[in-house]
Amino acid sequence: MDDTTREAQTPPPAGGQLSRRSLLASMLAATAGAGLGLKAHAKEAAAPAAAQPAAAALPSRVALMCSEDPARLQRVAWRPGNPEAKALAQLLLAPAGPIAEADALTVEAETSVFNLPQGVPLARSSAAFTSLAPGTAYCYRVGDGASWSSWHTFRTAPEGAGSFRFLYFGDVQTEIRSQAARTLRAGWQAAPDARFALFAGDLVNHGFNDSQWDEFHEALGFMSGSVPLLPTPGNHDTKRETPAESLAAPYSAAPAYHANFSLPQNGPDIPELRGEAYYVDYQGVRVISINSNVLDDDRPLNEKHRQAWDGLLAWLETALRDNPNRWTVTTHHHPIYSGSEGRDNEGMRNLLRPLYDKYRVDLVLQGHDHCYCRTHKVAGDQVVAADAPGTVYMVSVSGPKLYTLDPKFKQLMAATRGKTQMYHTVDVTPDRLTVSGFAANGEPVDAFSLTKDEAGNSTLATV
Ligand SMILES: [Fe+2]
Repeated sequence: MDDTTREAQTPPPAGGQLSRRSLLASMLAATAGAGLGLKAHAKEAAAPAAAQPAAAALPSRVALMCSEDPARLQRVAWRPGNPEAKALAQLLLAPAGPIAEADALTVEAETSVFNLPQGVPLARSSAAFTSLAPGTAYCYRVGDGASWSSWHTFRTAPEGAGSFRFLYFGDVQTEIRSQAARTLRAGWQAAPDARFALFAGDLVNHGFNDSQWDEFHEALGFMSGSVPLLPTPGNHDTKRETPAESLAAPYSAAPAYHANFSLPQNGPDIPELRGEAYYVDYQGVRVISINSNVLDDDRPLNEKHRQAWDGLLAWLETALRDNPNRWTVTTHHHPIYSGSEGRDNEGMRNLLRPLYDKYRVDLVLQGHDHCYCRTHKVAGDQVVAADAPGTVYMVSVSGPKLYTLDPKFKQLMAATRGKTQMYHTVDVTPDRLTVSGFAANGEPVDAFSLTKDEAGNSTLATV
């Protein structure tokens, strides 16, 4: 059911959990479209004229996050150059020319410390830009008042349903700097207008290893400063340093994982799943992140696990049932229909697939099996007609760790590919999803569309 997962998983220390609960800093209450609210606070925002700070004191790992309200709320996380200094962010409407610092509003941010098992503290600062105007470009930077990042630009989602695209990447995991980075960069080069980037777990090989997170951010480069991230935890993201550390909560991501993100808090009321199970409504699509590590056992391991198990499933059903959007996409690391030799997640399939059938989930984006598999439209573990109710399931991989392609459910597969690093673009309109898969060298591998009629019935077609 799994590769060498359980032995290296450990619970997050209490410090990490508390840090996640106390999340974000003071809020920006500006009337974003007018710009006047921004100027009202401008004097507070001015950075002192100081000598250029040393590189070590500069903020790093600056990354936007998908939020609960992408039209009005934008979160950003970063590693502070000086964790002891006050964390700040500045924001203004994106100007056509040079940025006048006096026009920026300063937002107080928060710095949280995530303790590695051996007591090594990892600082993460985060800020929330609120009350933003939909469909509007803003510039921001982060720092401490003396040392600042460069100015980045982001654009809020327009109001309501619309047309946009996003990127989907399977496991990054290994050789991130040397080999996986080119796939991520090829994806961004293919879709520079992507509104967010979804990662289906195993972003690194050892979740506790902060140097691997360094590689992950180096691979993203400046792109994560402008394109929000939407990650879901994989089994390798849960890994702690010793097997003993894994016993209390083997299913939650390592503290070092959360030291990189500031994700939506609309998940189940389970403290260890904050920022791991959540959903984002983006212009007519509900994207639900499910931490599938919780369900990757035959049954709960203990009472705490049972609470997480039951809480996750109950929350998921509510998120599926009460979805006002036209499209539903879920993402989790472990596949419902595995693609690699000898792998199958039967227990999880029996839990999730009935929910996907019942609530007519359109698309499931997964990882873990280090190959590419895309099903026909499937319901009840059977291929159904292209215009019947059903779900398309995908498994992909972006990094260089690749397994032998041998799906147990061969009869469900419409397209498979082994030994290929891939990225995918998902083009969304109110009536159509078009999913295109490419190899790291840009070679087209697979493309299909789901077209939805007024009654909500979709039809699958190869593109
Ligand atoms: Fe995995």
